[in-house]
Amino acid sequence: MASVEPIKVIILGAGKGGAALIELFTSCAGVKIVGVADNNPNAPGLQQARLLNIPTSTETASLIARGGADLIVDVTGDPAMTALIADRKPPGVESLSGNAARLVWSLIQDEQELREHLVHTEKLATLGTLAASVAHEVNNPLHWILGFAQLIQEEKKPAVIKEYAQEIVESVEHLAEIAKSLTMYSQASYQGEPVRVHIPDLLDNAVKMAKFATVLDEVEVVTEYAPIPEIQADPGDLIQVFVTLLVNGAQAMKGRGRLTLATLVKGDAITVSIHDTGPWIPSEHREKLFAPVFTTKPGGTGTGLGLYVVRTLIQKHGGRILVESEEGQGTTFSLQFPKSDRP
Ligand SMILES: Nc1ncnc2c1ncn2[C@@H]1O[C@H](COP(=O)(O)OP(=O)(O)OP(=O)(O)O)[C@@H](O)[C@H]1O
Ligand SMILES: [Mg+2]
Repeated sequence: MASVEPIKVIILGAGKGGAALIELFTSCAGVKIVGVADNNPNAPGLQQARLLNIPTSTETASLIARGGADLIVDVTGDPAMTALIADRKPPGVESLSGNAARLVWSLIQDEQELREHLVHTEKLATLGTLAASVAHEVNNPLHWILGFAQLIQEEKKPAVIKEYAQEIVESVEHLAEIAKSLTMYSQASYQGEPVRVHIPDLLDNAVKMAKFATVLDEVEVVTEYAPIPEIQADPGDLIQVFVTLLVNGAQAMKGRGRLTLATLVKGDAITVSIHDTGPWIPSEHREKLFAPVFTTKPGGTGTGLGLYVVRTLIQKHGGRILVESEEGQGTTFSLQFPKSDRP
């Protein structure tokens, strides 16, 4: 297919609408964002744009006049903006504002709702996959507890009773551990403000969860956590992301190899990477990796939604995902998150 020049777009307004546009356009091969402006330097979309290396500005009027774009999309909600664009934009540049921009915005909101449903469904599906092995894992300690409790009823020697009681305590602790990691995982999307999360804790938790979803017995898990600040995020979303990447890595290695989880801070971004020693991903597949329903698993065994949902959730957090894969080197998925403003 002949490659077509992408439409170069400037986005005016980096609030909720602008941030949603950035998210949508960055996953769209036919669109390139060449500038984002908002009078408020702390607008969420500006931070997102900086992380994506998109030029940003707090001078809306000068960005309009600068040119270099095919289309200006105004989602500022400012009624005076339509006239300002008409007055300042270089000839030949089209603009989308007023009702036309509102129409696009409502279509985007619809598509966002669909995405949210898809993400939620995928989370439930993952939980369903986990349920069977969790039930199995819970059954073992339950049997131990039952067995030792029955023995205690017959036992007279205090030392032996103490020993059995200790076994029961250990089994209960194991059960509590399983319950704890599941609670974190099943946390529904937050209903308001995100919370402060410590990513290494979530990664460790995700490893425990991934063991329920795939076989990790012969996978060596190595952690290289450089100290990173906490970020504001939805822990349930991030665990879904990490579990998906860990399971994909383990599956690519056919259950044998090494998974390296690392965290580091570089400039304004926090990077989390998950590397596996499996086969590399050919370049023709790499372009389609994050598209919904792309899978190389045979005959209906994979949904191909895993990485699509991962990217959606990362973008929801204002971050981005990159993949590196070379022959003989395995594959690394890197996630970059902006540092939280709030301490
Ligand atoms: N770590 C990896 N190494 C090699 N290939 C990978 C890796 N992760 C993903 N892939 C490729 O990307 C495809 C899409 O992954 P995704 O998680 O979206 O769906 P899936 O794993 O195929 O299906 P499901 O997640 O429903 O089991 C996989 O089929 C595989 O070809
Ligand atoms: Mg998968």
